[in-house]
Amino acid sequence: MGKHLIAITGATGVTGQHLTPLLRDRGLNTRYLVRDINKAQDLLGHDVNFVYANLDDRASLDHALEGVHTLYLNSGHSPILEAQQTNAIEAAVKAGCERIVKLSGNIDSLAPIPMAHKALEKKIASCGSRYTFIRPNFFMTNLYYVAADLKEGNTFTSAIPRDVTISMTDPRDVADLTATVLEEDDKHDGQGYYQTGAAISLDQVAETFSKVLKRDISYNTVDVGIWKNIVTKRGLPSWLIEHQVKMIGFAAAGTYSYVTNVTKDVTGNDPRSLQAFISDHATSFTPTC
Ligand SMILES: NC(=O)c1ccc[n+]([C@@H]2O[C@H](COP(=O)([O-])OP(=O)(O)OC[C@H]3O[C@@H](n4cnc5c(N)ncnc54)[C@H](OP(=O)(O)O)[C@@H]3O)[C@@H](O)[C@H]2O)c1
Repeated sequence: MGKHLIAITGATGVTGQHLTPLLRDRGLNTRYLVRDINKAQDLLGHDVNFVYANLDDRASLDHALEGVHTLYLNSGHSPILEAQQTNAIEAAVKAGCERIVKLSGNIDSLAPIPMAHKALEKKIASCGSRYTFIRPNFFMTNLYYVAADLKEGNTFTSAIPRDVTISMTDPRDVADLTATVLEEDDKHDGQGYYQTGAAISLDQVAETFSKVLKRDISYNTVDVGIWKNIVTKRGLPSWLIEHQVKMIGFAAAGTYSYVTNVTKDVTGNDPRSLQAFISDHATSFTPTC
């Protein structure tokens, strides 16, 4: 057992499910803050130290953070992300947490979610705790938004221009980086880690799908108005559509194209490739019958 107690939020999510076994392997002293303990046990096992906490319920956070040294702050895209994580930051300060590690994002983008992350980083940087920010670029799991296209046919559609590159990050690399930062305590104080994989255009994504899935897959780029109609019909909530429209604009301007060596430099491992991601999740993009 490591000496310091680390509280983990967002453990049942995309990155959190990869993080939990890494922290277990490292023998860190952990407490998992979850809003549904039964769901968390089913996903992550019964040998994990779960405590009830809801980011919308400040009193539950005050209780769950008692005696905690480090808070790992992560929660999903939400129109109230800033208010939810502010609750956790204020509870961490009240509980005397020495350190906050936050899963943030590409804060150079002015889309609503990165702007919320930027405001939260500012709050953490001025709250008196030591801190580290994990800032991954565009998750490869965002490709699940086109999974329905590829289950039905060989073309996927978006409004991102075909020649623009995006450096996509595998959430498993985010978990690796986070586990390293949590384990190494004060080695990463004050850092903001812009994490990426390789930069790739949507046409190259189509080529990678074709190669891995052994089908002739192509990318269809459409006007953003047409794309909004498509995703509205699919039931995407309006706040998320507005966020993604802004994101598409910033992507078109190159805001998501940069590449860094953070994964290699901090974890010692090369970033996972898109080819590996698609190969490991091939069934998500393959017709069921
Ligand atoms: N998508 C991208 O391209 C991208 C890129 C960079 C950064 N990010 C950031 O990465 C984060 C998302 O990570 P992820 O993909 O691992 O998230 P995710 O899969 O959406 O999981 C969200 C987690 O937050 C928990 N949560 C949500 N509301 C909660 C509440 N009220 N109280 C307690 N827990 C709550 C969820 O618990 P339940 O299981 O109970 O719902 C779940 O564990 C976001 O902050 C996002 O902005 C995303």
